[in-house]
Amino acid sequence: MAVVPNNSNLPRHVAIIMDGNGRWAQRRHLPRQAGHVAGVNAVREVVRQACDIGLENLTLFAFSSENWKRPAREVGALMGLFRLYFRNDLDEIVQRGARVRIIGNRGRVEEDIRQMIEDAERRTLANTGMNLTFAFDYGGQEEIAAAARELARAAADGRLDPETITPELLSSRLFTSGLPEPDLVIRTSGERRLSNFLLWQSAYAELMFVDTLWPDFGREEFLDALDKFSRRERRFGALPESVA
Ligand code: IPE
Ligand code: IPE
Ligand code: MG
Repeated sequence: MAVVPNNSNLPRHVAIIMDGNGRWAQRRHLPRQAGHVAGVNAVREVVRQACDIGLENLTLFAFSSENWKRPAREVGALMGLFRLYFRNDLDEIVQRGARVRIIGNRGRVEEDIRQMIEDAERRTLANTGMNLTFAFDYGGQEEIAAAARELARAAADGRLDPETITPELLSSRLFTSGLPEPDLVIRTSGERRLSNFLLWQSAYAELMFVDTLWPDFGREEFLDALDKFSRRERRFGALPESVA
């Protein structure tokens, strides 16, 4: 059984690509939506556990900017579950002291969801516990393009000298501004790709791909990922201390 790594070995920021709901349902001869329902239970457990172990930042990929390409019925079901999750779980999140942020394009979601997002962020704004971020209608390329557009506009207006554009400045224009970059990105379901998730921010993240389908991802597996992370050697382009 994996044990909780001590705080110094805990990643500051874990980001998870929650994949495999559809296949989980298919294997049970259930409609894909049933997989998404089961996926919400896994979200609840992982959020609780992350709070329990004192993780500082947890980011969950819930809906990509490309997921609109799915059949309207599935998109509708996912939107419905998002609503349900916030209606059912926000009180517990508030009570656990977590601070909610939703990153993504708010212009495309329905008005009631946009208001729900704003309400969740407002209600948890003063919380000082874990930063709990949901990537919802999120795409990394779109995010970077929007930041570039904003800087270009400022430069065109004469408010910004292009020479002063640094990675830090661009970072500060991303949805994730203020959050540390993810140290660990986990993707479930055996797929080995980022699917447009936190492209800029994951420059030096440790990537971990696990075969478990998201609805089956539980506490034990989360701990196991943290344990494996604590034994990885991160170099950031430099040499390890033992060699330098
Ligand atoms: C992840 O599960 C949830 C979302 C993308 C919203 P999928 O729905 O992608 O499940 P698979 O990949 O088809 O099994
Ligand atoms: C990525 O999963 C998006 C989420 C987990 C929310 P997808 O299932 O949409 O990714 P692809 O299409 O397999 O790359
Ligand atoms: Mg998928």
